[in-house]
This record gives sequence, C-alpha cells and structure tokens, in this order.
Amino acid sequence: MPVITCIEDLKRLHRARTPRMFYDYAESGSYTEQTFHENTSDFARIRLRQKVAVDMSNRSTASTMVGIPVSMPVGLAPVGLTGMQHADGEIKAARAAEKFGIPFALSTMSICSIEDVAAHTTKPFMFQLYVMRDWDFVAAIIERAKAAKCSALVLTLDLQILGQRHKDLKNGLSAPPKLTPATLLDLATRWRWGLGMLGTKRRFFGNIVGHAKGVGDASSLMSWTAEQFDEQLDWDKIARIRDMWGGKLILKGILDPDDARRAADFGCDAIVVSNHGGRQLDGALSSIRMLPEIVRAVGDQVEIHLDSGIRSGQDVLKALALGAHATWIGRAFIHGLGAMGEAGVTKALEVIHKELDISMALCGERDVKNLGRNNVLLPQGFSAETYR
Ligand code: GLV
Repeated sequence: MPVITCIEDLKRLHRARTPRMFYDYAESGSYTEQTFHENTSDFARIRLRQKVAVDMSNRSTASTMVGIPVSMPVGLAPVGLTGMQHADGEIKAARAAEKFGIPFALSTMSICSIEDVAAHTTKPFMFQLYVMRDWDFVAAIIERAKAAKCSALVLTLDLQILGQRHKDLKNGLSAPPKLTPATLLDLATRWRWGLGMLGTKRRFFGNIVGHAKGVGDASSLMSWTAEQFDEQLDWDKIARIRDMWGGKLILKGILDPDDARRAADFGCDAIVVSNHGGRQLDGALSSIRMLPEIVRAVGDQVEIHLDSGIRSGQDVLKALALGAHATWIGRAFIHGLGAMGEAGVTKALEVIHKELDISMALCGERDVKNLGRNNVLLPQGFSAETYR
C-alpha cells in the first residue's frame, strides 16, 4: 500500500483505479480549461506570512457553517455521479463527512438517492438542487429532502445550461458506462471498481430514475437532464423555491459582486463564491481572485463560502484569510473516494485538516476564526479590479 501524504497521492490512485470516463469527468474544466487551471494557480500565487515566537498551543479549527458546528470549515461539495467514482460513493462520502464532523451536500445528479443516503447516515446532510422545468419534479424532490431532514438546501445558480467538457463527449460519458470495446478494455484494468459495482444496485441516477416521467434508460436520462434544466431561472423562481423549502438556504455559484448584493438583499443563509470548479464559464476569473471584492460588497450581510480550486489545508487557510467564512471541496475528496472509498475520503479530510492546523500554527494563529488579511501576502495586481 503506497504511503499517502497529500491530495496529489490520492489523485494518482484515483486515476489508476477508476474508469477513465469518470476520472476525466471529475478532472475536467469546460472548453480551454483556463478557469479550471487558474482556480489552482491563483491559490499558488497567494503566500502565507510566517510568524514566530507566539504561543501556538491549544489550537482550534472548529467553526460553524450556516449555524451548524463543524470540526473545520470545509464541506464536501455536491458532485454529480459520485457513485460512479466508487460503488455507493455518496453513502461512503456522507459517512466519512459525518464521522469527521463536517457537512456533506448530496447532488441532484447523484447515483445514491436522498433516501439511500438518509438510510445509511445518522446526522442530517445537505441537499443540492438543480432547478428543472418540470415543477412537479422540483416540488417532489424538495419534499423528499424535507422528509430526509436535510439540514440545508444548496441551490446551484450557475448551471442552467452546461459548459461543454470536451473529454465527456469524446469518452461517451454515461452512467453506468456503455460496454463498448474501449470501455471494456479500460474496465479490465479497474477490477476493484468493477467488483464494487457488481456488489451494488446503485448504478443509475438515484434521485431521478423512477421519479421523473418518461425516463427509461441511462443515456436518455442524461439528455433528459440536459434538456430539463430551467433556462428561465430568475430571482422570482428562486423565491418560489425558498418558499417551498422553508429551511436554511445556500445560494451557490455567485462570482460577481452585484449578484452577491442581490443575493444578500434577497436573503439567504450563505452564498458560495464559485465558478463550478471551472466547469461552466471558461474565461471567468478564479473564485479566490473574486473573493475579496465580494467580501467588501456583502461580507457584513451574509455568510460567505468559497469553492473551486481548494486542494490543500493551505488553500483553506488562504480562503479564510481573505474573508471566506467556510470552504467546500469537490475534487479533493473525489480523488480520495476513487482511490480508496470511504477510507480515502477520510484520508483526504485528515490530510487537509492537518495541513490547515500546522500552517495556521506556523502563521502564529491558534484559531481558524481569527485568520485574516494579515496572514497572507498577495502579488501586485492580484485583485479582480485589474481586469476592469
Ligand atoms: C455537474 O454539476 C457538473 O459540473 O458536471
């Protein structure tokens, strides 16, 4: 068994153990992948300010996310097809999150259903909603999330139409994969994955199959969802969703200060500064570069979270120092899941937690809640304003 010391190690194992089409699905951005790459390269340009000779004992990474206590301000972001990275992937990730004391958000486009995850966990998880044109489906899935006692609704605003990811088209992405000579050859070297999949019945989009009208097989399901996302989503419809849900609401996919002001005025429990991991608008600036301007605009009105680009505890520290209240990881935990199932997700969380804790100490801080602008150094011209 290789020694795992960082997320990059899990990524290598994920690549070796998971069918190519699902690894590629996770590890892609849209179009030229400029935004996907800048999400991580911009984090690398931010530096940490080292401080010495301060008492660094009794450290704490504990915080809250929308009022929920967390052992560190890092949630497992909603990721479509998680149950194709590893058998029963959403259940495994939710269990790892629950044991670690951090939130898990289940994607609408998950393989394990809301009910599956609820049956295999003991604490409430969050549910991520894509707004579809079929309001009967939307109303029903919100009721299912309520019945499962989900702790918050994460409403994604930046994927009403899909940014093209070239590899998904070239690989013929589907869930489950179609058995062509190419996929069979690929699967032959991924025997662990295959055994896992043979051992579970959860191989289709669990929130949708049997719940949406006119959806027969996997491939028509994918086109159904692509066709069904509601292109007319606007603030009136968001208000309708808020009323139907009635619980804690997180608005995800905000990258513009004016949109952030609109969201804050609208009223929600948190916004997630996000460009969907560079998977939607290629050419958008990175989340971490947009963050300071959004914090200046609404930081005193609404809780601000950030995702897109976090691969380490140092990245978490940088986001918190620049004003995020909390962060979300997608690929970083998916690499763990694809590498080693639940143990791999736990490993990813341990890696990030330890990196955060030690880096915080070396910055002379004892509490994540005290991190601030004085802990980081930014290169000249880093702000979003340079692009006006
Ligand atoms: C879905 O959320 C995706 O980015 O593929």
